[in-house]
Amino acid sequence: MSLKEQPLFTSYEHNGLLLRNRIVMAAMTRARTNNPDLIPNDLQRTYYEQRASAGLILTESTWVSKKAIGFMNIPGIFSPGQTAGWKRVTESVHARNGKIFLQLAHAGAASHPDYHDGALPLGPSAINPQEKAFTPQGFMDTVTPDAYTLEQIRELIADYKQAAANAKTAGFDGVEIHALIYTLIPQFLSEATNQRTDEYGGSIENRSRLLFELLDAVEQVFPSGRIGMKFSPAAFNPGIIRPDHQTIATFDYILRKLDNRKIAFVELMAPGTDLKGTPIEDLHDNFFPFFRSIYKGTIMANGGFTFDTGNQIIEQGLADLVSFAAPFIANPNLPERWEKNLPLAKADANSYYAGGEKGYIDYPL
Ligand SMILES: Cc1cc2nc3c(=O)[nH]c(=O)nc-3n(C[C@H](O)[C@H](O)[C@H](O)COP(=O)(O)O)c2cc1C
Repeated sequence: MSLKEQPLFTSYEHNGLLLRNRIVMAAMTRARTNNPDLIPNDLQRTYYEQRASAGLILTESTWVSKKAIGFMNIPGIFSPGQTAGWKRVTESVHARNGKIFLQLAHAGAASHPDYHDGALPLGPSAINPQEKAFTPQGFMDTVTPDAYTLEQIRELIADYKQAAANAKTAGFDGVEIHALIYTLIPQFLSEATNQRTDEYGGSIENRSRLLFELLDAVEQVFPSGRIGMKFSPAAFNPGIIRPDHQTIATFDYILRKLDNRKIAFVELMAPGTDLKGTPIEDLHDNFFPFFRSIYKGTIMANGGFTFDTGNQIIEQGLADLVSFAAPFIANPNLPERWEKNLPLAKADANSYYAGGEKGYIDYPL
């Protein structure tokens, strides 16, 4: 089989979304939006345009509201200026026949009062997630947040809907809801940070409620086939949100329920560590097979994949699409390099989250 005939180079169509190849650029925070209004500018436009040959680009995490902020120099999608800035990005990607989804993100309690005019961030319960928030003063310990009131949860859901509407105005082909590591949605999913006694806490169904309500809100703007979700069920974060004895049952519930929703894809980040001896040991060597057995829709595999392992997982029927993050940093034309069997460049990790053009738009095509 020629390189061009490998599974990653085949087109993919599902629920109304047609991708020219199955090589997805995964979301990557690059912290280059260093203007006070968090408006994507020419740097972002060039960066995404250079990577438009991916079957699909997932943008960096983008804040759905001012209250969502928890990290420095990350763009937003909550103001007209941000929407206009993103519009220039999508136009450039579309001019190169690329497709691009915006990743909707919210830090929840993984934030700092410095981002909220001194007020406490909000979380499911008044429990410190014990993470770090990257602020202009450097990495700061997270604090004990205020617990969301029901009224504030309604506002939060409305913020997601507005952000999705702005993304549509900006010309995005769809959105991906960020539900990974220790951010807002995992804070609601985890009993370590969610001790609520109302309909958003307690049972797995209740802790998952917000996730589905956010999806409902975004579905009022984009068709289901233009909405993806990203999870990292096996991420061992530094703080208190970690896989526990309820993790497998929680994701079993979520993915079975999502199976009825006909969304564009579920992106799953594979474990980066050995799961033996952990509460999710059953997923050891069984991560994608487990999720494939319960979710029949499109699975986008992510986490440490190469051209060979990406092709293999599609051939095995365990995933339909594969997303690559780090490889896209130094290889803007990654599909072309694989197609022509060219060597891959290695990115400088020092410029992952800092710098301007350097280490961002200066990797040669
Ligand atoms: C510099 C950098 C920034 C990242 N930022 C995000 C992000 O904003 N949103 C997200 O969902 N994942 C983010 N990730 C995780 C990647 O999307 C991906 O899940 C992870 O790197 C594993 O894929 P890989 O092995 O192909 O790099 C980031 C990864 C890197 C390297």
